[in-house]
Amino acid sequence: MATNQEGTLAQQMFGSQAPVYATSQVHVSDASLEAIVRLTAPGPYAWTVDLGTGAGFTAFAMTQCSQRVVASDLTRPMLQETRRIGQERQLSNLMLSHNAAEHLPFASDSLDLVTCRVAGHHFADFEQALNEIHRVLKVGGSLVMADTIAPEDDAVAEWLNDIELRRDFSHVNDRKISVIEGMLSARDLAIVARENVRVYLQFNNWVARTATPDEEVITLRRDFLAGSSEVKEAFEIEPTADGDINFSWPCLIFRAVKR
Ligand SMILES: C[S@@+](CC[C@H](N)C(=O)[O-])C[C@H]1O[C@@H](n2cnc3c(N)ncnc32)[C@H](O)[C@@H]1O
Repeated sequence: MATNQEGTLAQQMFGSQAPVYATSQVHVSDASLEAIVRLTAPGPYAWTVDLGTGAGFTAFAMTQCSQRVVASDLTRPMLQETRRIGQERQLSNLMLSHNAAEHLPFASDSLDLVTCRVAGHHFADFEQALNEIHRVLKVGGSLVMADTIAPEDDAVAEWLNDIELRRDFSHVNDRKISVIEGMLSARDLAIVARENVRVYLQFNNWVARTATPDEEVITLRRDFLAGSSEVKEAFEIEPTADGDINFSWPCLIFRAVKR
């Protein structure tokens, strides 16, 4: 169990907001989940583990191509939502595990597939999580991950991470694709397939999901509308007629195989 400061922050944020994430449309299904389903097809896999499972939507999708799926998360209230929805869906091959991605309670060389969707940027120690993923995968096993990506332009990447942290105090880091590629190749995890999609969001709904304080919502709204032309183009920022703001985050989905 991660007991460092970031782990505690993630548990605070996601513990209190678990029921909201359980009904969030963008988490129930979006282009990133559809891409994960494409990149894991056709299976079948004997053992799959979904890390940072949240309310379980990626784990649920993986029950269709895996004999057994373990939905794992650091935050107990999230796993309670996963259990409730999994029972509603009558998923008999779904199990739960309460653990940090940085400390996996699975034997070395034991898993066929590890999935992780829009959770890696919350992990306190992403590199340690990759070390653990590499350890538990069988040779030839796959990591299929989807996550928000920071553009390669430093100023735009900095804007994104600053905005993310002010909206969600548990945010850690949206990384550039070049950084992720370096971390994978350092561990002999070879990317064999990838897709880039956009995750479409509405500002009011996005800050409500994390219960961002009102005074921060005001400054965040101001900074979206005052973003540079590079920022507005990178994140497709568009004010709407009813006072909301549409925008999108770039998302990378990749399949990497343990050599
Ligand atoms: C945005 S939610 C994930 C959504 C989910 N993967 C899905 O497909 O709907 C992020 C999740 O990451 C979990 N998390 C944050 N830090 C973690 C860590 N170090 N280890 C495991 N889970 C973590 C949080 O508890 C939260 O449930």
